Amino acid sequence: MRGTPVKGEPLEEPSAPSGGPALAPDGDRFGFSRFARHPFFTDVNRWLVERVASLGSLGPRIVDLACGPGAITELILAAMKERGRGLVYAVDPSLSELDRARRRITSSVVRFVHGSAENLSRLVPQVDVVVFCNAIHLVSDKRRVLDEIRKVLGPGGALAFNTTYFKGCYKPGTERFWRYWVLRAAQYLRARGVGVVRQGKAPAMQWYAPEEYAALLAGSGFLGCSWYLHEVGLSADSLEDIGQFSMFIEGALPGVPLEDGAEALRQTVRPAMRDANLLDVVPRYWLQFIARTPA
Ligand SMILES: C[S@@+](CC[C@H](N)C(=O)[O-])C[C@H]1O[C@@H](n2cnc3c(N)ncnc32)[C@H](O)[C@@H]1O
Repeated sequence: MRGTPVKGEPLEEPSAPSGGPALAPDGDRFGFSRFARHPFFTDVNRWLVERVASLGSLGPRIVDLACGPGAITELILAAMKERGRGLVYAVDPSLSELDRARRRITSSVVRFVHGSAENLSRLVPQVDVVVFCNAIHLVSDKRRVLDEIRKVLGPGGALAFNTTYFKGCYKPGTERFWRYWVLRAAQYLRARGVGVVRQGKAPAMQWYAPEEYAALLAGSGFLGCSWYLHEVGLSADSLEDIGQFSMFIEGALPGVPLEDGAEALRQTVRPAMRDANLLDVVPRYWLQFIARTPA
C-alpha cells in the first residue's frame, strides 16, 4: 500500500522482508537491542537509509538522531562506505544506549553525542542528512523537534524518519490482537495482585497520521515530502522481544513495574495471537518518510 506522495520524489516499494529467528539479547534487560536484532527490523530501516543515501546531491555529513544501541548507525556506515566518505553524529539522550552504541561501533568517522532531539541545533553543526528511526513517536513537542532538525540541515538536505506508532499502523483486521494482548496481560497481572491503571495515551506517545506529519514538516520549512507504508510481519518471538522493551511496557501497561510487565506480555502474546486468529505473524505498517529542505 502506498501513502500519497505530497511533493518530491516518490518512494519505491520495498523488497519482501526476510524474517527470521530472534537472537539472544546482549544482557540489556529492558533495552531495545533484543527487538532490533530481528532481520525484518534491519530490512525496514535499511530500506529507508538506502533510499535517503541514494538521493542525488546529498552531502556526506549525517546525523543518526535517537541512535539507541547503534543499529541504524551501522546501516548508515554501510551506505556511506559505498560513497566513500562521510561523518556521522550519533545522538541519544540515554547514556546507557549511547554507551552500547559506542561499544558496538569503532569507526573513526562516528561522533557520539549525548543529548535530545529538542536541542539538536546546539549539539551538532550543519549537516546534509538527518536519519531519525523509530523514535519520533516518543517526542511530545514534534513541532520543536522538526524546527531543530530544519535548523541543522543545510540547503538541499534531507530528513528521513520512520515509526510504527502512527495513525494507520494497524493492518485492517489486526487491531484486535493489540487489544487482546494488553487485556490478557492486565488480567495476568491482576490475577497476581499487580494493579494496572487504565489511562489515555501519554502525550509523548501521541500518534500522528502521515498527512499530519506532512503538514508539520511544511510548517517547519521542509519542501518535499514522500512517504510509504512498509508492511512487516511480526512473529511471536519478535513481539515477545518488543514486550521486554521498557518504553513499550510503559506504554502498554502504565505504572506496572518493568519486570512484572515484561513477564505478563511474554506470557500472553501467543494466546492473544490465537484469540485474534493470527497464528503465524501479526502484520503491521512502518511509516517511511523522507522530506527535503529547499536547495
Ligand atoms: C526505539 S529506540 C530506537 C533506536 C534506533 N534509532 C533504532 O531504530 O534502532 C528509541 C530511542 O530514542 C531515544 N529517544 C527518546 N526520546 C528522545 C528524544 N527526545 N530525543 C532523541 N532521542 C530520544 C531513546 O533514548 C532510544 O534510544
